[in-house]
Amino acid sequence: MKIIRTVRELKDAVNALKAEGKSVGLVPTMGALHDGHISLVEQARRDNDAVVVSVFVNPTQFNNPDDLRTYPRTEDADCRRLEAAGVDFAFIPSVEEMYPEPDTRVFELGDVAAVMEGAMRPGHFNGVAQVVSRLFAMVNPDRAYFGEKDFQQIAVIRRMVELEKFAIEIVSCPIKRESDGLAMSSRNVRLSARQREVAPNIYRILKESVEAKASGLSLEETKRKVIEEINAYPEMEVEYYEIVNADDMQPVGDWNDCRQAVGCITVYLGDVRLIDNIKY
Ligand code: PAF
Repeated sequence: MKIIRTVRELKDAVNALKAEGKSVGLVPTMGALHDGHISLVEQARRDNDAVVVSVFVNPTQFNNPDDLRTYPRTEDADCRRLEAAGVDFAFIPSVEEMYPEPDTRVFELGDVAAVMEGAMRPGHFNGVAQVVSRLFAMVNPDRAYFGEKDFQQIAVIRRMVELEKFAIEIVSCPIKRESDGLAMSSRNVRLSARQREVAPNIYRILKESVEAKASGLSLEETKRKVIEEINAYPEMEVEYYEIVNADDMQPVGDWNDCRQAVGCITVYLGDVRLIDNIKY
């Protein structure tokens, strides 16, 4: 695996692959890699001749400076994992390399970006669109891979691709979970022992709510049940739980209002903010 730190080198490497007629898969990450990221790499390897992984903690998508400061950075371990996973190029730029000038672009992301994460973290999705569009323009991959834990992010990226007219296939990959059900996240390492012990209850309660729906609970009752049961743990506080239409991310009032309903949750454990989701 080659580690690349400049845009020039990245473009040269990708152009050489394309000149040989090779397809390229891109896996954008912010590092602190776990098995969830590696599952994206594995899918990218199955689908493409070559795989580029970017490792970049993107400052423009953090609306909270403390979150940016404390975001885990584990470059050496990340490179070892990527090498073992058979990645061809790891692109690890500095902030100055990624943003030689401040990025002032404002994307018209519309309704998909206005709710949930978009409402709670102003500017977050615009920052995601800025960095992902830059990576797409630099690599011009055939396919790009994103994990479904960030369910809304995938909808926002699809919208950005439509706006910018990129001919790139967006591949969404299932959530990877620890054996106790906790969704894998780079933020999990920041949980205390006690917080780590209670955190799997998020997924347990979400799963039970799917059974509750099947036995006749209304959408509003289901929402209330999830929020109350999670908040019953003194270590956890639900920021939001929305049941949305998977096609447009808009909250639905009744189970019959959409083809596929998805419950999207954010929970604080101390200052660690975890997200998860479940299909109904
Ligand atoms: O999901 C993430 O890790 C980030 O939002 C992404 C897509 C790598 C952009 O910085």
